Amino acid sequence: MSEPTSPETAVLDGLVPVVPHPTDEVGVNVAVQAALAAFAAAGNLDELKSARLAHSGEKSPLSLANREIGRLDKSEKAVAGKLMGASRGRVNKALADRTAVLEAEDAARILVEETVDVTAAPRRRRAGARHPLSTLQDRVSDIFVGMGWEIAEGPEVESEWFNFDALNFAPDHPAREMQDTFFIDPVDSHLLLRTHTSPVQVRSMLEREVPMYVLCPGRVYRTDELDATHTPVFHQFEGLAIDKNLTMADLRGTLEHFARQMFGDDASIRLRPNFFPFTEPSAELDIWHPGAKGGPRWIEWGGCGMVNPNVLRAAGIDPEEYSGFAFGMGVERTLMFRNEVPDMHDMIEGDIRFSEHFGMEI
Ligand code: PHE
Repeated sequence: MSEPTSPETAVLDGLVPVVPHPTDEVGVNVAVQAALAAFAAAGNLDELKSARLAHSGEKSPLSLANREIGRLDKSEKAVAGKLMGASRGRVNKALADRTAVLEAEDAARILVEETVDVTAAPRRRRAGARHPLSTLQDRVSDIFVGMGWEIAEGPEVESEWFNFDALNFAPDHPAREMQDTFFIDPVDSHLLLRTHTSPVQVRSMLEREVPMYVLCPGRVYRTDELDATHTPVFHQFEGLAIDKNLTMADLRGTLEHFARQMFGDDASIRLRPNFFPFTEPSAELDIWHPGAKGGPRWIEWGGCGMVNPNVLRAAGIDPEEYSGFAFGMGVERTLMFRNEVPDMHDMIEGDIRFSEHFGMEI
């Protein structure tokens, strides 16, 4: 018979168990002690399961020793039966006790870990909401697409030529100062952040065939400080129509239809003389806002006019054959008076509670 193994070896050596002779009290006792030590060392039910398989499973030294009893002489059988019965009884009892302890520990742990505090405030995950500036811009685009217009876009970093020169701003014309411009370094790159969406007028005329009816929504930049009614980054939408025989009456009719779609059938518009280098004549557009807070009233909405022949020429269109009208409005400003938003900060802070308030229209 081989040397009795230490309890540790018996655990580690589970695959090659040292099987004691079933009458060998010392050897059997070593196997029993190894089992008891392994059960005691098991810190959780998983570890206990491994210990059980190693020490009282079918292939454990004690089970294998037990199996030998059948082959013994009658005289030895009684001794071995008694020894093995008592030993296995101790092991099973120890296993049952340890199982009970670990199960109780487990139940206590689960009770703590999975406690549900029914009085705790729920953690609510807010659904996202589209920004009202985006939905308003979509709404405007939809109205024009509904009239058969196309949507055009242009770059936000724009060349000075598209933003000013092609729009008939003379190099030293004070009108260039009307819009406080972010120029891009170096100055001789002649690049800037577009101050309005009007450069897309010129781009559209260069890229598209006449007649054309395009709406150009987009982001624009001016060196304004952020306050309740100004922000250095804002949005405009620009309209441009080029066709034969377009007149101021077409401009008026288009804007009036647009105003009614946006503000209801009771809305109307008026045009007041103004100046823009790229339109002649030019006008300020006011809207009669029937739903205004504090009662219906006139509100300044944007600029418009007949496209200046110099602009048509800069874009290669013959002003003798074609004429055009254009208009431009601010999206933020429109949202302010259409939805009673008194402070621009609310529009740029990105607080979902502000956006949610507008719902998910369109
Ligand atoms: N681009 C002008 C502005 O930003 C608005 C405008 C557009 C005026 C089109 C006339 C025609 O102030």
